Amino acid sequence: MNEAIRPAPVDPSTGMPRQLSVVVPTFNERDNVVALYRKLSAALTGIAWEAIYVDDNSPDGTFDVVRKLAAIDPRVRCIRRIGRRGLSGACIEGILASSAPCTAVMDADLQHDETRLPKMLALLESDAADLVVGSRYIEGGSADSFDKQRAGFSMLATSVAKRLLHIEIADPMSGFFMIRRDRFEQLAPELSIQGFKILLDVIATARGALRVTEIPFTFGSRLHGESKLDSMVALDFLGLVLAKLTRDAVSLRFLLFALVGSVGVVVHFAGLFVALDALRWPFPHSQAFGAVLAMTSNFLLNNFLTYRDQRLKGIGILRGLLVFYLVCSVGLLANVGVAFSVYNQEPIWWLAGAAGALMGVVWNYAVSSLFVWRRR
Ligand code: GDD
Ligand code: MN
Repeated sequence: MNEAIRPAPVDPSTGMPRQLSVVVPTFNERDNVVALYRKLSAALTGIAWEAIYVDDNSPDGTFDVVRKLAAIDPRVRCIRRIGRRGLSGACIEGILASSAPCTAVMDADLQHDETRLPKMLALLESDAADLVVGSRYIEGGSADSFDKQRAGFSMLATSVAKRLLHIEIADPMSGFFMIRRDRFEQLAPELSIQGFKILLDVIATARGALRVTEIPFTFGSRLHGESKLDSMVALDFLGLVLAKLTRDAVSLRFLLFALVGSVGVVVHFAGLFVALDALRWPFPHSQAFGAVLAMTSNFLLNNFLTYRDQRLKGIGILRGLLVFYLVCSVGLLANVGVAFSVYNQEPIWWLAGAAGALMGVVWNYAVSSLFVWRRR
């Protein structure tokens, strides 16, 4: 084994130092767990491996199936995460919990080709690369199971990523790769836990410091269950590109929050107009009505879009809404206060107004992410 690779713990079942950890993120994959395990066992004979399934508390009880497997085979482990969702975050947690010098990430649904793993491992162990990517878009690879729309979107995202982030490999959107754990650990603190695109994030964050090799594979079709990629994944993708382009200065969350806020202004005026004109309410009542309407719609939109990975549900919505009203009311005071002091220094109405609005949105964003959509 290569000198550069750290010694690994000894695998209790083979007595050999562990060579490979396979991290398998799962969400509602109970029917695929055992099938994948069998395929791994067959493909990895002669290799000391472990499999770490990282399950986000799947409603179908995937973690139960994994745990039963772990009870009879010590090479299998289950990480069950509660109150969190996200493919990238699950992969990061799994890799950091792994013990072998090389770690693969692989989908649970049998769409990735486990027979490529020994080849990928050989490339890492011979120190020919730091990262090996299973690629659909090089000679010999394919993604025939994609429908037209999905294929088109995948191509578009791939070319955006390559151009904007200067990424040179053919398939940075692949979910199938193997990396040296020590290299991954260096990058981990800078990776985003939101979204789907962990490989893209790893390559962009490394900024050319990783030696990357691609090997072809055929992206198969799902046997059981369904894909968790929805249209919102496009948003995640844009967010990642934005964050990497600005070196994390601009977060998509903040932009979405500000966007929702500007929709709120429109809602406010619409409410004010309806109350004054159609309901013939006095101005103060109408203004208050507009404000409450705008705060409510902002809250709902943020819960749906900006914080969809931490979406409040049931009674939590009511509690969140009340706290949000409170946060926004204080935000309004801050807004007016700042605008006022700017106006005192420099009586330019739009400058003072903009400063106040910026203060308001920054306050609302910072405080509501602490108290309304706080990470549990
Ligand atoms: N723990 C966890 N949490 N696992 C998740 C989550 C989550 O929130 N969402 C999805 N997964 C798991 C699924 O259970 C599956 O094992 C794997 O991640 C891939 O999810 P799919 O829903 O099957 O994704 P896909 O097949 O549409 O997309 C695949 O191909 C893309 C390339 O086109 C993935 O490999 C993507 O990463 C890849 O970009
Ligand atoms: Mn899949």
